[in-house]
Amino acid sequence: MTAAPHAEERAAGPLPAARELLGESEAMREVQRLIDRAAATDATVLVRGESGTGKELAARALHERSRRRSGPFVKVHCAALPDALLESELFGYEKGAFTGAACRKPGRVELAEGGTLFLDEIGDVTPAVQVKLLRLLQDRAYERLGGTRTLHADVRFVAATHRNLEEMIEAGQFREDLFYRLNVVPIWIPPLRDRPGDVARLAREFSEAIASAAGRRGAGLSDDAVERLAAHRWTGNVRQLQNLIERLIVLSDGPSISLADVERELSREPAKPAGVPQELSLGARTSTAEREALQEALTRAGDNRSLAARLLGISRRTLYSKLAEHGLK
Ligand SMILES: Nc1ncnc2c1ncn2[C@@H]1O[C@H](COP(=O)(O)OP(=O)(O)OP(=O)(O)O)[C@@H](O)[C@H]1O
Ligand SMILES: [Mg+2]
Repeated sequence: MTAAPHAEERAAGPLPAARELLGESEAMREVQRLIDRAAATDATVLVRGESGTGKELAARALHERSRRRSGPFVKVHCAALPDALLESELFGYEKGAFTGAACRKPGRVELAEGGTLFLDEIGDVTPAVQVKLLRLLQDRAYERLGGTRTLHADVRFVAATHRNLEEMIEAGQFREDLFYRLNVVPIWIPPLRDRPGDVARLAREFSEAIASAAGRRGAGLSDDAVERLAAHRWTGNVRQLQNLIERLIVLSDGPSISLADVERELSREPAKPAGVPQELSLGARTSTAEREALQEALTRAGDNRSLAARLLGISRRTLYSKLAEHGLK
């Protein structure tokens, strides 16, 4: 069995930046208002939006602004675990509940007592676990695996997904009753390309935070570089912008990031149609991962093919054939 992920996980991304949900666009102001209003209650919140829009950050902001802020914020990544593991992560187990259960272990619901339980990627939960979640949300009641005592959860629930739950309900993949229990306060985070006015502020905040963490104070963005970033169609949303800025700062050695630097890095971004749900076929996923690895290796190696091949752990020959296969020069 793999080690269970720790209860209090860091937000995605390696950065010290962005603990705060930034954005002055009207759409983001509305998101902030909704978070504030929901934070004043214990209502269940469903955060939706494309990948990288800031759903997890919104869930954390909600917790921080609520009366539960001194309690724990516990995240469960529902997509990462097979059913049996997800259930034992959520509900915990009693000693002897199954082979290997040497002692009682509290679940995440229990660990979140007095705080907030963040059910991330809720759209990926199987029908078997959906039933158990429904009971938890409906009655705030659950049992540890192998246990007979019913426990009561004093927890605020926040769930998030990038999936289209309405379509999943239509297709019989997601329980409608669970959807209504989750969707008490719906919060939609708009894609970054629909709020270009937010890009400049985000870009400047990220570049300052990343530069200072890297001991590179002064490696700021020039005005035309920021303009170019704001004009880009960000299919990977805020996460893509943040990663690009990190790369710009790591790779630049001049005093500031120029328009040309931005153009160069943008031309290396993988083209991905906006808003289209990700392909689930393993072939497509593998191919995307391979392409991204190739691009990253080239970037890190500053286009030095031998170095890129070494970073990837393949021969130069294989590198050339893979580059050709992916149409990367
Ligand atoms: N409005 C924002 N202000 C500042 N930082 C942001 C904002 N939105 C997102 N970020 C940053 O972008 C990155 C992605 O955000 P987050 O992990 O919350 O996205 P997500 O919607 O949960 O994505 P996914 O669906 O892929 O899990 C994080 O590093 C986060 O800190
Ligand atoms: Mg997330």
